Amino acid sequence: GNSAENCPFPDTWAFSQGCLSKRQVLSTIRQMQKLLSTQEAAQLQGMRNLKKQLTVLQNSVHKQILPDPWPSCPHLAVPMNGRKLGRKALVGHEVHFLCDAGFHLVGSETRTCLDNRTWSGQQPFCKSINDCASNPCANGGTCVDGIERYTCLCPSGWSGSNCQSPVTGLDIPIVLRSAITSSHLHALVVSISALLPDVDECQLFQSRWQTRICVHDCVNLPGSYRCICPQGYLLNTDLNTCNDVDECTNSQHNCSRGEICVNVFGGFRCVRPECPKPRHNTSYIKTSAFQCERNPCPMDSKACRTAANSISFHYLPLQSNRTVPRVLFKMSTTRFVGDSLRFAITGGRGHSTFAVQRSDRQTGELILTSPVAGPAVLEVELEMSEFARRVLLGKHIFRVMTFISQYEF
Ligand SMILES: *[C@@H]1O[C@H](CO)[C@@H](O)[C@H](O)[C@H]1NC(C)=O
Ligand SMILES: *[C@@H]1O[C@H](CO)[C@@H](O)[C@H](O)[C@H]1NC(C)=O
Ligand SMILES: *[C@@H]1O[C@H](CO)[C@@H](O)[C@H](O)[C@H]1NC(C)=O
Ligand SMILES: *[C@@H]1O[C@H](CO)[C@@H](O)[C@H](O)[C@H]1NC(C)=O
Repeated sequence: GNSAENCPFPDTWAFSQGCLSKRQVLSTIRQMQKLLSTQEAAQLQGMRNLKKQLTVLQNSVHKQILPDPWPSCPHLAVPMNGRKLGRKALVGHEVHFLCDAGFHLVGSETRTCLDNRTWSGQQPFCKSINDCASNPCANGGTCVDGIERYTCLCPSGWSGSNCQSPVTGLDIPIVLRSAITSSHLHALVVSISALLPDVDECQLFQSRWQTRICVHDCVNLPGSYRCICPQGYLLNTDLNTCNDVDECTNSQHNCSRGEICVNVFGGFRCVRPECPKPRHNTSYIKTSAFQCERNPCPMDSKACRTAANSISFHYLPLQSNRTVPRVLFKMSTTRFVGDSLRFAITGGRGHSTFAVQRSDRQTGELILTSPVAGPAVLEVELEMSEFARRVLLGKHIFRVMTFISQYEF
């Protein structure tokens, strides 16, 4: 709810988080819109990939005319209230049918698997004295009694005189609808591959980017497949993506004392942020693990006055080939007393892939402007200068190091 009276400042509304300005509310709405469109795009992409996979599968099914070393007939159902003797369904084999006490067999007592892979005779059933008394209709079918016979009305998805046979063929639209998330993808690919004699899912899908089933690598298993991840990652519960292992919090790193562990995608880095050596009346002292502040210095020393007041260190993990432009880092000041701030890139290896821009009066952004294929380490030094009537009041230096992983995850 909102009410201007609850907030002491003009043009603000009260929310559960406190008083928010119109700008903050709009910014929140924008963030939510962005989030939703990202999710929408990801879902659409998932559907598109799935469609392509089904097309590949369909083509593969069309192409399969494999020699059949063990010609056999289709599976025969066991009659209700009866038994089937003989398990083999190979050409030349016979099966026999018997009924339980109180029932008699209607149809063929013996059926033979013929050369053309059909069974001789008729599928038998076991009939009771009252045609419907034995509940002969399976799978929720409704029995209609007749003169010495009954008829089953089968629910959708089932057929046969006793509703015993599932209607074959995949209901692709239903499968597709439930397969939006990647956790369903594994199950879907396994179940549709099960329809084929022997399919190498990895070879079929993984070789092409658009139909990949694993973000990294795929291993074919009998009747299934498994995704594997490179070192430094663990297979996600969805069974096809890889999650980075945080070696720093898991204490799986070997950084020495005085070094700081930085988790990056697929591994870790040991860093040791160091303040610059004293020089020209200017010296720095470490005020926190990632920050150096300039010691007080004689104000008649120009070298001291133009040196940065503070230097901070920033380590950013990033995946390979991320889309651009991408905001990597934001810098702002909490003690802004001047009338303007200027942001600039002042050095660093690989700084041509970066740009700085102002995002509001008090904030600057470091932007990655071209995609970078990993593994790579990029360094850039940024300067934020504060002015009052064009007189420099102070400077802050940000040393940003970006660790780009070998993979796109
Ligand atoms: C299979 O062969 C039998 C006898 O040889 C014949 O009666 C039957 O119609 C054939 N079925 C099909 C589907 O060709
Ligand atoms: C730390 O482990 C990495 C492999 O994870 C190895 O390459 C490196 O030499 C090790 N460093 C030290 C100081 O033991
Ligand atoms: C260092 O400071 C002193 C005054 O305290 C000054 O005379 C000298 O010029 C300064 N040196 C430099 C290199 O700025
Ligand atoms: C990054 O993109 C380039 C060009 O599209 C491609 O050749 C390269 O394999 C990609 N790198 C990774 C790690 O995917």
